[in-house]
Amino acid sequence: MKLAVAGTGYVGLVTAVCLAEKGHDVTCVDVDKQKIELLQSGVSPIFEQDLEGLMARNAERLHYTTDYESAYRDAEIVFIGVGTPEKKDGSANLTYVYSAAKQIAETVRRDCAVVLKSTVPIGTNEKIEKIMHDYKVPEVMIHVVSNPEFLAQGTAVRDTLFPSRIVVGVEDGQAERIMREVYKGFEAPLLVTNRRSAEMIKYASNDFLALKISYINEIANLCELVGANVQDVAKGMGFDPRIGSKFLNAGIGYGGSCFPKDTKALHWLASMNDYELKTVKAAIEVNEQQKLKLIKKARKYYDNLKGLTVAVLGLTFKPGTDDLREAPSLVNIPILLEDGAYVRAFDPIGVPNFKKYIEQTGVEGLDNLSYYESIEETINGADICFIFTEWDVIKQYESKNYKKLMKKAIVLDGRNCLDVVSSDGLIYECIGK
Ligand code: UDX
Repeated sequence: MKLAVAGTGYVGLVTAVCLAEKGHDVTCVDVDKQKIELLQSGVSPIFEQDLEGLMARNAERLHYTTDYESAYRDAEIVFIGVGTPEKKDGSANLTYVYSAAKQIAETVRRDCAVVLKSTVPIGTNEKIEKIMHDYKVPEVMIHVVSNPEFLAQGTAVRDTLFPSRIVVGVEDGQAERIMREVYKGFEAPLLVTNRRSAEMIKYASNDFLALKISYINEIANLCELVGANVQDVAKGMGFDPRIGSKFLNAGIGYGGSCFPKDTKALHWLASMNDYELKTVKAAIEVNEQQKLKLIKKARKYYDNLKGLTVAVLGLTFKPGTDDLREAPSLVNIPILLEDGAYVRAFDPIGVPNFKKYIEQTGVEGLDNLSYYESIEETINGADICFIFTEWDVIKQYESKNYKKLMKKAIVLDGRNCLDVVSSDGLIYECIGK
């Protein structure tokens, strides 16, 4: 099929490349000229495993342009995969979605489906339909479809090629036929429902996972108080298929582009409907507290962090990505700097993005922040070490070096990723043990 995709971020680009892999002809559209030029030269603007390889393999079926008119005019399906960032009040900012929708409506000249991949509040697809109605030429028929994605960063290509499910929200039979055709090559359960339910499935899924994480984090906090081991507790719980073993890793809270935003957006949506979503609200509050867990632990050893050298291992919100959005490092490092600590940071790929973020925050004490290319250099002479991200290189690092290289070997592991116990000359603390 001839497809177009609006937006070349995580959702848009990965969707486009995976649909090309399944044999479709796909044109990617973005307003950012630099991004398009990069893509045209075969380079992905985002770090995502397997993506560039797939781009190269499907080069003849993939096109990149800023000229949206030529891309949308004859497309059988136009996917919308632009961002829906969080507004100050917690609601989703739909400016990019609406402006892409208007461009599509004004441009298409054949009957087609407009498919919303971006995560949007319940009822947004109806607004898109109204935009289509108001701006399209009268002779074309546009079917608006909700088709949320469930990809996780770092495994986005695999999650898209081999999805756990495909959810399609439609209001008419022709839209369903078009969607069945485009996903013909995928082996996954395909759930057809109405658009509002499809929109809700996305939020309900993400918020449930966030809830699961906040729940195990609270259990971890309690384990610390009563002398239990959260990893064993999670393992014991996970054998029950009704609970499941995934997303029960306790740590310093969830980050990323979805869970923090989608929990707040659903909570906001509920409040707009005079309903309080108490479980989701609790998950948000627990997560905010959990992000500060290592700093609280550090204060047991030092009343004041002023003048201390703090090694930070891992900056990104999870391994396998250079994404910093809502990462615990972004909350913790400014606190450390404001407390007057000298911070030495290491991340295999997240440093360039981290520098951009931290410089925008206007935080004081940036002169006391330095970056290193190896774990050795980062921990050398440090008074305490924080682990924020469970990168393999951090997990596999020789633990005896902490004792050897640090001035005072206190290692606080926010991801329970080291296999270490406290011993003479080494204090090791993780979450929930
Ligand atoms: C998530 C969903 O998994 C995906 O389905 C959705 O489409 C987008 O949001 P992503 O944000 O890329 O994907 O990452 P994910 O692997 O889900 O992790 C999110 C955060 O939760 C990370 O900060 C991670 O460290 C944290 N997490 C995850 C835990 O703290 N414990 C866990 O057990 C699992």
